[in-house]
This record gives sequence, C-alpha cells and structure tokens, in this order.
Amino acid sequence: MQPIYLDYNATTPIDPAVVEELLPFLKEGFGNPSSNHPYGQAAKQAVELARSRVAGLLGCAPAEVIFTSGGTESNNQALIGIALANGDRGRHIITSSIEHPAVLNPLHWLEGQGYSVTYLPVDGTGRVDPEAVRRAITRETILISIMHANNEVGTIQPLAEIGAIAREHGILLHTDAAQSVGKIPTRVDDLRVDLLTIAGHKLYAPKGIGALYIRRGVKIDSYLHGAGHEGGRRAGTENVPYIVALGKASELAAERLATEGERILTLRERFHASLRDLAGDVELNGHPTDRLPNTLNVSFRGVVGADLLARTPEIAASTGSACHDGSGELSGVLKAMGVSREQGFGAVRFSLGRLTTSADIDRAAEVVAVRVKELRAIRGGVSHNQVQTGLSALASCAG
Ligand SMILES: Cc1ncc(COP(=O)(O)O)c(C=O)c1O
Repeated sequence: MQPIYLDYNATTPIDPAVVEELLPFLKEGFGNPSSNHPYGQAAKQAVELARSRVAGLLGCAPAEVIFTSGGTESNNQALIGIALANGDRGRHIITSSIEHPAVLNPLHWLEGQGYSVTYLPVDGTGRVDPEAVRRAITRETILISIMHANNEVGTIQPLAEIGAIAREHGILLHTDAAQSVGKIPTRVDDLRVDLLTIAGHKLYAPKGIGALYIRRGVKIDSYLHGAGHEGGRRAGTENVPYIVALGKASELAAERLATEGERILTLRERFHASLRDLAGDVELNGHPTDRLPNTLNVSFRGVVGADLLARTPEIAASTGSACHDGSGELSGVLKAMGVSREQGFGAVRFSLGRLTTSADIDRAAEVVAVRVKELRAIRGGVSHNQVQTGLSALASCAG
C-alpha cells in the first residue's frame, strides 16, 4: 500500500484535468508562440489563455503576469530585477528572517553586490510586526519582500498592513506566495503587493513552471539576456505545455478555493484533535488561526520528529526540524520563532491537500499516536541530548 501523502507543501500531484489540458501541447500543439503561421498562433493563443487564467486567480490584468521556470526563478527575477532597476534610487531591502532560501539566497547575493538587507524578526507564531517594517524603512529602501505564508509552519503574514506602510513610503512590496496561491485568497489588490511569486508544483501543476505578477508601471530589469519574449521581461521560448498546465491549475484553484479551503481546514482540525486525544502532549508550531488551512506543524513532547517519520512508513510527511542543507541544524524558521531545541527537533509538518480524505486522516492519526507512544516508551530515562545526538542526522528537509 502507498503511504498516506501528507506533504502537499513539498509538492502536489498534478490534477488529472491539468494533465488532460497539457497533453495536446506535447503532441500536435508543438508550435512556437513567436511564429506567425497557424502552428505558432495556436500556441500563442494557448499561452494567452493561460495568462488570463492566472490573472483571474490573482485579480490582475493578464499583461501583469509573466511565466517563469518556478518559484525560485520568480523570486530571483523579482528581487534582482527590482534591485538592478532601482539601484540609483537606493540600495536597501527589507525582508523577514523566515523566508525560503529562494528569497534569502538572492538577497545574500545582492549583499555581495553592495546592497544592504534588513532581516526582520518574527514573534513566537512566526508573524512579522508591520510596525517593525515601518521602523526599518530608510531613505535608501527600495523594496520590501515578505512571504505570504510560510512553508514550514503555514503562518500567514499581515501583508495588507505591510502593503499600506510600503505605499505610504513609495516602496515596492514583493511577496513569495508559492505556498498560499490556491490555498487562500491571493488577490493582489487586497494584499496590496506590487510583485507576487507563484510556483506551479504547489498548485497541482507540474514542477518547473511558475509565474511572477508585476504591477503595471513597476520598473524592473531582467538578468536573463536574450530575445524579447514575455514583453521583453523574460527571455526564452515559452514552455507552452507547462504554461497551459499552470493556466488550467489556476482556473481550478479559483473555482475550488472556497469549498476546498473549508473541507481541508475541517480535516486538519480533526487531525489535530485526534493527535491531541490519541498521542497527548502535542505542541503547535505556527499561528493558531492565521495559518494556511492545510498545514499542521506539531511537536510531540519527548519525540524527535525525524525518528518518528523514520518509524512511520505508512505516512509521507516532513520534519520541520532540519535546515535545507541537511546538516541536522534546527530550522531557521523555528529558530527565528524562538522555539526551543527540544520542541524544534520534535517538529513534524503534515500538509493536507486535494486528495486527502477523512479516512486518511483518521488512519494517520492512529498510526502516528502508536509510534509516538512507542518512542516515548523507548526513550524512558534517556536524556533528550542523547536522543538528539543519535537522531539528528536523520532529519530531512521541509521544502
Ligand atoms: C515558500 C517557497 N518559496 C519558493 C519555493 C521554490 O519554488 P520552486 O520549487 O518552484 O522553485 C518553495 C518551494 O519549496 C517555497 O515553499
């Protein structure tokens, strides 16, 4: 039997309706959208339909959307593109300390190019204080980049408040919405953002496709040099099949947002309650309410998360305890939230999605509770440090 998949924040399966829509573009719909003949024009039409579907989900104009190779490229394009285009106005950028490496690393690169970056702290639930954003603004600030929802703990940031502050000061706001698009509303005017990152594979489209929303009038450069595709904003012949896929996935997400969000939230709450009842001593990591409806990051007292998952092959989930280089360090997100080492190494991230059923949840809760109790019994009198030293090497990444 296949393990129960509870790792939708790592990636989602491709929706069958998405596969159906993309397949013809791997076959007869092979034209290059830049060609003027019917093959090319059919491909171009498909790309433009996809663009309008993505725009529909974000509540923006189709011309404000460009297609990229995924969340990492969209973040790089947003951060480096804005920095390059606005470096004459100032060289200071504000971000949070819990961003994904696809934001932190381009910012580290920009620091090497003479830009300065402020990494704002978060509170114990993973939230940035909008007033801290205001205090960090200097005359040199050109960009604020704060993720919409965190991949490990699911905490949602008060973007509209941060956006209002950014506007007061005439500063652009980018958000990495790789985890939130399709799970909660992400209309750009409500969020008050100027740039927004989408990653297709978190949204039931394939890996290797993404999009970037760029508000009309925003001055941005590209670091990819080539021909004038995507209105001169992203060189390279369009990945037509995957663009079509992202368009269809966005259309489905828009149609299902309200009902799926409710259904998944109910399942997650039921899962959390069952874990509390069956395993006991369960600590939530993340915000109690302002959190993605599908995400449950919890620590079981006295248990190392990586060990729990290694002993529970019936379930596919992630630990929240390891950093992205697999070094067995406490994750930067949990560290920034001030979570203790013991609680942090106990963290397990369960993330639910479109195919999760109540039967999956009930079975997962039962199995996890049994293994938690076994591990607590094994641990007995062994000190936490001894357990941790032995097991931290097993810790895997929460992507
Ligand atoms: C918050 C966040 N940003 C960016 C990315 C990177 O997206 P991609 O895998 O499409 O490059 C991820 C994927 O793990 C993510 O969770």
